[in-house]
Amino acid sequence: MRAIVCTDYGSPDVLQLKDVLKPVPKDNEVLVRIRATTVSTADCELRRFDFALWIWVPMRLGFGIRRPRHRVLGQELAGDIESVGKGVRSLRKGDRVFAATGIGLGAYAEYICVRENPQTGAITTMPANLSYEEAAAVPYGGGEALQFLRKANVRSGQRVLVNGAGGSFGTFAVQLAKVLGAHVTAVDSAPKLEMLRTIGADRVIDYSKEDFTDSPETYDVIFDVVRNTPSGRMARLLTENGCLLMANPGFLQIVRARWAARGSKKGVVFGASSGTSEDLAHLRGLVEAGQLHPVIDRRFLLEQMVEAHWYAETGQKLGNIVVVVA
Ligand SMILES: NC(=O)c1ccc[n+]([C@@H]2O[C@H](COP(=O)([O-])OP(=O)(O)OC[C@H]3O[C@@H](n4cnc5c(N)ncnc54)[C@H](OP(=O)(O)O)[C@@H]3O)[C@@H](O)[C@H]2O)c1
Repeated sequence: MRAIVCTDYGSPDVLQLKDVLKPVPKDNEVLVRIRATTVSTADCELRRFDFALWIWVPMRLGFGIRRPRHRVLGQELAGDIESVGKGVRSLRKGDRVFAATGIGLGAYAEYICVRENPQTGAITTMPANLSYEEAAAVPYGGGEALQFLRKANVRSGQRVLVNGAGGSFGTFAVQLAKVLGAHVTAVDSAPKLEMLRTIGADRVIDYSKEDFTDSPETYDVIFDVVRNTPSGRMARLLTENGCLLMANPGFLQIVRARWAARGSKKGVVFGASSGTSEDLAHLRGLVEAGQLHPVIDRRFLLEQMVEAHWYAETGQKLGNIVVVVA
């Protein structure tokens, strides 16, 4: 089968289209013919191996010291089940599925084996009203945003601010917070603000014109997906029982947020947070009910993966970049 192999850590040019062995499903796995996948900022960070210092060493040990051990990147997909292992009960040959691959990665390929009940990652049948390309953009950003918002126990009437709202996490976080009945403020660059209004943001802030941490306004939840906003200042903007969610913090940001929240009931949440198959089924329900829409920017073909990564590196993407595999 064809796959994009990450031959080294570095620029998008380390990605090469190669023929690799087609995987064979074990008893507890399904073989998925991948129709679409995505290029996320996290894929680019893995390819460059660009991580905060406090996770750099454990991540490097996990992903390969000299060069990537998981040589096929890609964290989400949509496709058809081509065959199932003999122990699989809940999925069938021919099912249209969407999946998050978890730490195993591997979605930049024509086929992948996924466990029926993955330890990290998720798989279930995809929303009936989406194309493969649209469905592929849901599991990673949608699953992680859902997990983070649950940790903050977002409730109707609360004020939620999403910092970095125009990307993969953010576009789902804005919509999920709206589904929960929150008043949502979305912060990102000017070209993304109109899209953010369209998906439901009540208020938008252009970070190049206004620093929300300068304002006295408070929030019940701040979901920060960007690494460069001072975390202590964000923690100080929280209401008494408020919660700061940090998707991508550096060590000092964690310390500063905890320090600013000391002696209060404010929560500071960080760390890996991946969605489960049940979460994916919940997202499918929201999509089918018309309450959640994946935001898709450009589409590329599998053989244009290098181009897709260069585009992701510009930071201009609105929501998600889709790669059509078949
Ligand atoms: N904790 C976890 O479980 C977990 C798991 C996977 C990934 N992550 C991390 O979470 C992060 C979120 O990824 P994502 O996929 O949502 O990223 P993304 O798609 O690149 O979105 C980030 C958004 O932030 C905007 N932005 C950049 N600088 C900003 C600033 N100073 N203020 C406000 N907005 C700003 C970007 O827009 P412009 O470029 O136009 O400025 C972009 O729209 C990644 O770094 C990833 O590694 C965390």
